[in-house]
Amino acid sequence: MKIPLCRPSIDNNEIKLVAKSLRSSWLTHGPYNQKFEQLFNKKFNIKYSIAMNSCTSALECAVKALGTKGEIIIPSFTWVSTANAVLNCGSKPIFADIDYKTRNISLNNIKKCVTNKTIAIIVVHFAGLPCDMTQISKFCKKNNIKIIEDSAETLGAKINSKYTGTFGTGCFSFFPTKNITTTEGGMLTTNDKKIYDYVKKLIAHGIDKNIKKKFWHRVAVLPGHNFRMPNHLAAIGYSQLKKIKKFNYSRNKIANLYNSELSKPFYKIDTPYIPKGYSHSYQMYTITVSAKIRDSLLNFLKKSNIEASAHFDPPLHLQKYLKKYNKIKLPVTEKLSREIITLPIFPDMTKKEVSYVIKCIKKFYKKNNL
Ligand SMILES: Cc1ncc(COP(=O)(O)O)c(C=O)c1O
Repeated sequence: MKIPLCRPSIDNNEIKLVAKSLRSSWLTHGPYNQKFEQLFNKKFNIKYSIAMNSCTSALECAVKALGTKGEIIIPSFTWVSTANAVLNCGSKPIFADIDYKTRNISLNNIKKCVTNKTIAIIVVHFAGLPCDMTQISKFCKKNNIKIIEDSAETLGAKINSKYTGTFGTGCFSFFPTKNITTTEGGMLTTNDKKIYDYVKKLIAHGIDKNIKKKFWHRVAVLPGHNFRMPNHLAAIGYSQLKKIKKFNYSRNKIANLYNSELSKPFYKIDTPYIPKGYSHSYQMYTITVSAKIRDSLLNFLKKSNIEASAHFDPPLHLQKYLKKYNKIKLPVTEKLSREIITLPIFPDMTKKEVSYVIKCIKKFYKKNNL
């Protein structure tokens, strides 16, 4: 049996919609963008959503929309895009440590990094579990610190009834491993009309569509990008988004199967922790094991044809070009990066496939007398 880290769930409806879009004259930004964005607003209770070509672009737009440069606090336990967005906009990333149990940045971690140059924080909801946005939002409001949510891994997760991506400027990813996919793609969400108007221009060459003295005029008002999502990819997103509840339900079911077998004290494996009132979108299913055995377990799974991985090893502050930005010790991040294992999870994963992964992990423990 061969098990990938992720197998996207693309059905006939998506294939039909792509064909329909390609047969129409809308090969770039078109009517499906609007449909996708409107459905996003409705599903997650957001005022404005803007579909674009990646979450990385959404992060860059969110940082640029701050309108000022300075220090931006981010976790080191994330994908490089989080730091790159800060650097590419001329600000400075300040790495914060995370909480061992949730694997997320906490208010305490943030407080240790705040200076009079702090302009914003980018929280990353790791693997699909929301950060403690209730406390973080309160603190940021009081201290005039803007919030950007790197929600690449957390579409459809919420704290009580409030979805991630609605506490600040939200940035979602539709890369094939994510909760829904458009192949490549991303979404920026905001409740702030000013940010919406600015980002709409920024992703489309800086053109202000409202300024038009003559019908052929395209008036550029700022140095924009071309970050737009093409119509046929928006069509995939629109169709995928309709299934988000079903997808996340399947992911939770698979996570529960893993939990029930792997959380037995005998194995000394930590399975994901979910605080009360939180939901988890399980974009990734991660466990931690002793650092002494982590690498050999990953190698064993690879030999067993299981595509497990380690998100995120190395963490960002240990990447060569980012080391100079690290000011404090990040012991929890470093410990987790040595212990973490990402196991395969995707909505169409069968019980047989989950059982095979569990069986191989058990075999590894037995073989090594652990
Ligand atoms: C936390 C985080 N941020 C940003 C990204 C980048 O997303 P995209 O590939 O859509 O640019 C990812 C994707 O892997 C991610 O996990």
